[in-house]
Amino acid sequence: MQRVNGYEVKELLGRGATAEVFRADLNGKGFAIKKFYPNLVQDVSLFQRFQKEFRLARDLVHPNIVGVQELINEPPCVVMELVDGESFEQLQKRLPFVYPELSLLLIRPVLKALAFAHERNVIHRDIKPSNILLSKTGQVYLADFGLARLEGESKLTLTGSVLGSPDFMAPEQARGENMGPSSDLFSLASVLYFLVTGTRPFSRSTPLATLSAVSQVQYESAQRRNPKISSGFNALFEKAFQLDVSKRFSTANEFLLAVDGYLDGVGLLESAKQEKDYVGRWLLAPNDFTLEALNQMSASLEQRSRKALSDLRVSDASSALSHLSMISPESSAIMHIAQNLKKAKRKKELRRYVPALLLLLLFLAGSGLLIKSQKQISAKDQSSVSSQEESLVEEHVEVKVAAPPQIKQVPKTVVAKEKPAKVEKFSSVQVNRPKRKVFGSRVRFNVADQVDVYWEGRLLPKGAVLERVKKGAYQLELRRKGFPPIKETVEVDGKDPVTIRAR
Ligand SMILES: Nc1ncnc2c1ncn2[C@@H]1O[C@H](COP(=O)(O)OP(=O)(O)O)[C@@H](O)[C@H]1O
Ligand SMILES: [Mg+2]
Repeated sequence: MQRVNGYEVKELLGRGATAEVFRADLNGKGFAIKKFYPNLVQDVSLFQRFQKEFRLARDLVHPNIVGVQELINEPPCVVMELVDGESFEQLQKRLPFVYPELSLLLIRPVLKALAFAHERNVIHRDIKPSNILLSKTGQVYLADFGLARLEGESKLTLTGSVLGSPDFMAPEQARGENMGPSSDLFSLASVLYFLVTGTRPFSRSTPLATLSAVSQVQYESAQRRNPKISSGFNALFEKAFQLDVSKRFSTANEFLLAVDGYLDGVGLLESAKQEKDYVGRWLLAPNDFTLEALNQMSASLEQRSRKALSDLRVSDASSALSHLSMISPESSAIMHIAQNLKKAKRKKELRRYVPALLLLLLFLAGSGLLIKSQKQISAKDQSSVSSQEESLVEEHVEVKVAAPPQIKQVPKTVVAKEKPAKVEKFSSVQVNRPKRKVFGSRVRFNVADQVDVYWEGRLLPKGAVLERVKKGAYQLELRRKGFPPIKETVEVDGKDPVTIRAR
């Protein structure tokens, strides 16, 4: 039996590029002892230089971080808390078809560990699946804090070049630049990608090609590698895998918030908050548990899409529905919701296009104007819309504005100079009043781009909409280059919306 500093070294737990990890006992208590390969770390002073880093790691006492017990110089090794379980690397091999959402349950504790370390200015620098351990009872631990620099340098000492795989590096790390908290978050997103697709996002046939893919953030969308990944889930990768650090999740808590927001949307947040207990149940009976989680998600997505539909939040309803059809394509609710979604989309489109349809083009044919008022709302039009769409139907009141007496400028291209009197139509003004009652009127302007609108003498920005305009008479002036202005008083009743159109 081998002994190191009083520890009884027992069986081998695993091998890495720089060390072997053994189970060890001290006074009946289990530990993990990481023994660096002796030919790798010939330089003991290397260890001494990293004492400070180890001290930092030793101070990181957190339920999701592997505790560091002590550093031994001879033989060079680190004694750590023993995790009775497996690494994420091993877990992925054993359970390759982990449902994407369940992987988020495994990532949450790591985000908490990183939030804790980053707040204390400690960056891990070597986030990868083999450095995250899952105990048999469902507790997740991040291992090897404070070792990245040491391991990197010992590898360098031996071969003169960086060994090991750059698969989980962040771009700035691959380029040898400064790393920050968001570098760890980038790497963690690669670990998540690995869990849900079984592949490494930037891995290529040679380390050099991988380094280049990482530094340019070239990867295939996770959704393409695993069609069970929803668009909302995929958005997490899109945010985490930004080349520009300022566009990524800037803190672990921000990442966690996004993960929780997503889990909430699929009805798993409350379960996820049970953490170890929930993950532990999954480890005991993965199949039953996954089925239960899927049912939970289906029910929640169905509810979410119905609610979004009734609130006319079409895009949320449609993303919840497409996720639902991905999870339980046989669900009888899908057809029904899809039909209602179609109707809602039509309703929404109608709302969007009605003003555009009402917009009349400004003709460049003249400068004189007449005011004409008329009401046109056909009974036929009204009967063809449902009660909810009724608010979209506008009562049409057209006002023709009389031409100002003196017409000096008329565009040459359109109007013959010698016949100004016959080309009097610069514009007319129409006022449309929808039926719906509101407090204060909304005033919209459907006028051609070239027309400047002055409301009470003030130039309005293009496309401006005036909200809650009180009852009263307002001065409207329309100006177009080359034409005399049109001045008109617009009566607003303080209730009905008003649309001013010019042609
Ligand atoms: N504290 C620990 N408790 C249990 N097993 C561990 C512990 N630390 C590491 N291991 C196991 O030992 C293996 C080798 O670890 P390591 O030398 O850090 O290399 P790597 O992290 O590159 O795999 C890990 O993959 C893991 O399975
Ligand atoms: Mg390790």
